Amino acid sequence: MTIVKKFYVVGDPIDHSKSPFIHLEFASQFRLAIDYQKKRICSGDLAEFLARAKTEDVVGINATVPLKGEAFHLADEPSDRAISAESANTLWFSEGKTFADNTDGIGIIKHIEQNIGFSLKDKKILIVGAGGAARGILGPILDRRPWSLTITNRTFEKSLRFAELDASRNITILEWGERPQKPLDLILNCTSLSLSDEIPLVDRNAIGPKTICYDLAYRPGGTSFVNWAVEMGAALAVDGIGMLVEQAAESFRTWHGYFPDTGTVIRRLRQNIK
Ligand code: ATR
Repeated sequence: MTIVKKFYVVGDPIDHSKSPFIHLEFASQFRLAIDYQKKRICSGDLAEFLARAKTEDVVGINATVPLKGEAFHLADEPSDRAISAESANTLWFSEGKTFADNTDGIGIIKHIEQNIGFSLKDKKILIVGAGGAARGILGPILDRRPWSLTITNRTFEKSLRFAELDASRNITILEWGERPQKPLDLILNCTSLSLSDEIPLVDRNAIGPKTICYDLAYRPGGTSFVNWAVEMGAALAVDGIGMLVEQAAESFRTWHGYFPDTGTVIRRLRQNIK
């Protein structure tokens, strides 16, 4: 008898999640039969769900907004990446313990460096936003040794706290909408503004003909930030579909031990979202 391994993606809202599509695509590459379901879990309810999942032999769980912080705090064995982000998107159980990892940072780096072919080393990078999404990618981006890392956020105090997180490395802060001295090489929109079709207050001087603009969010037809960046003359404007697939691939490897072909799934997901 084949045992079908069981997985969940949990969050609130969850209906829009593409994780089941992505993981089933990956599984089919290795002829694995998996059961991967969406489950709406509200803030505060994750502990109860994890306790039940353990007894039901669930193998792995992806946590999304707003549960990534809770997932990290509930883990017995968080990875270094989860500790540095204080959030987790990948959980699994072993010997009665809950293990946790955060694959968002490695996911975006793989997409930018391998799929787009743009090395982060020695680049001038601007992170827009200082919430959970920005926090998840900060450490892995700094590890790539950019030339400079600048943060801008509507709430200035949050940028300050952000810079203190990694005081050993030089993080510059710009006021919200402040004009940078020179165009950046890479601008990452980590705010939640694309979800309401709004654009962050980024001075147009931040974008030059070689600038890549990257939105962590995605929408059919492109996000407002991506469309705006194209209008501003960015060399390339990219949405978060590639990152979504790459972070899922890292979760998949953790759970199954195989790394899937992500390029095909990025293309198929893009068609699926259209
Ligand atoms: P996430 O986990 O998606 O990062 P979050 O932690 O709530 O969610 O962070 C949302 C980010 O979007 C923050 O940087 C937030 O700015 P503030 O720190 O000032 O709240 C930003 N954001 C949300 N709505 C915004 C708005 N209307 N204008 C500017 N920034 C906004």
